[in-house]
Amino acid sequence: MENSKTTYIAIKTDEAGQFDQESLAAIARAGRVIKDGGLCAFPTETVYGLGGNAFLADASEKIYAAKGRPSDNPLIVHIADPADLEKVAREIPPCAYALAEAFWPGPLTLVLKKKAEVPKETTGGLETVAVRLPSHPVALALIRAAGGFVAAPSANASGRPSPTLAAHVAEDLTGRIDMILDGGPVGIGIESTIVDVTTSPPEILRPGFVTKEMLQGVLGQVKEDETLFAPQADLAPRAPGMKYRHYAPKGQLIIVEGKKEAVSSYINRRTQAHALKGEKTGVIATEQTADLYFADVIKTIGDGQRLETVAAGLYGILRAFDAEDVEKIYAESFAREGIGSAVMNRLLKAAGYQVIQAD
Ligand code: TXA
Ligand code: MG
Repeated sequence: MENSKTTYIAIKTDEAGQFDQESLAAIARAGRVIKDGGLCAFPTETVYGLGGNAFLADASEKIYAAKGRPSDNPLIVHIADPADLEKVAREIPPCAYALAEAFWPGPLTLVLKKKAEVPKETTGGLETVAVRLPSHPVALALIRAAGGFVAAPSANASGRPSPTLAAHVAEDLTGRIDMILDGGPVGIGIESTIVDVTTSPPEILRPGFVTKEMLQGVLGQVKEDETLFAPQADLAPRAPGMKYRHYAPKGQLIIVEGKKEAVSSYINRRTQAHALKGEKTGVIATEQTADLYFADVIKTIGDGQRLETVAAGLYGILRAFDAEDVEKIYAESFAREGIGSAVMNRLLKAAGYQVIQAD
């Protein structure tokens, strides 16, 4: 089900921060494409999304096919107006309104009971629906142009890191979707926090930029899915997508924990051993530690003291290691606090939970 042609358009704003005429026309055209059942990738503040009409079962099926994604993995419905929440969800508890008030527009997704109008194809067969109101101006303009309800997973081929640039989308999906809107690099770089508000207390199904501490500030109590940092033998993750080995680089990724010196000397011993066997090695380091390593490819993910920069660098770095065919990749570990929880959740998944303690 390949489309022959994917139209790629860069969206620009003028000095006043308004879309220029061509960009407005492109967004209107993309809106029509989605309304009519086609697919268009677009930037959000978290990662690029692949949008289709949330009310059309066919559009959701096309999304699964374009990504090569299993169809039991539900999509997030993106809205542009908080009042539209009531058009896709029912029995909305007060805490959902409190979270929407606090964090929308922004990188938070709420799981609620779905309305009958939302097709099962969009929710991967579930009776619940995930809803998000993003803050990116291109996303908001496109959602409005498309009629208000856009189902959008991350715009990567299934199993690849989420796209933080339009070029990543083009790499994975050219020829498989109708349009790509290029709005430049995304800001956050890691997907939205998902909170299930059908349970009491609400539960974090996927950590993101909106942290547990921030959620506690609004909700008081919040649970965390027990599988976020380690797979559980008898427990499946509650967000169906979290059970798949997403973000897996082609090379073997190994996370090393411990004191700075112990970590670097362990990694350097390993990269030397691999080099003797002719294996290409890589290290994911920070601005503070990059100088400590010996390897074929050493990449700086961000400033280790500012984990939001690490979040923003993560997916681009995993793609870059793939492009350079690195076989053994060693990564430092990060504190599971604030946005660090989201970073470690993604990094651990990418590593298939391989963690080594250096001492
Ligand atoms: O930041 C984001 O959320 C990005 C941008 C494009 O908005 N979207 C995104 O979508 O990350 P996706 O499809 O790559 O991830 C959605 C996750 C999956 O793990 C899926 O299983 C989970 O949300 N999910 C969706 N609907 C759900 C539901 N009703 N119940 C539980 N989990 C759900
Ligand atoms: Mg995804």
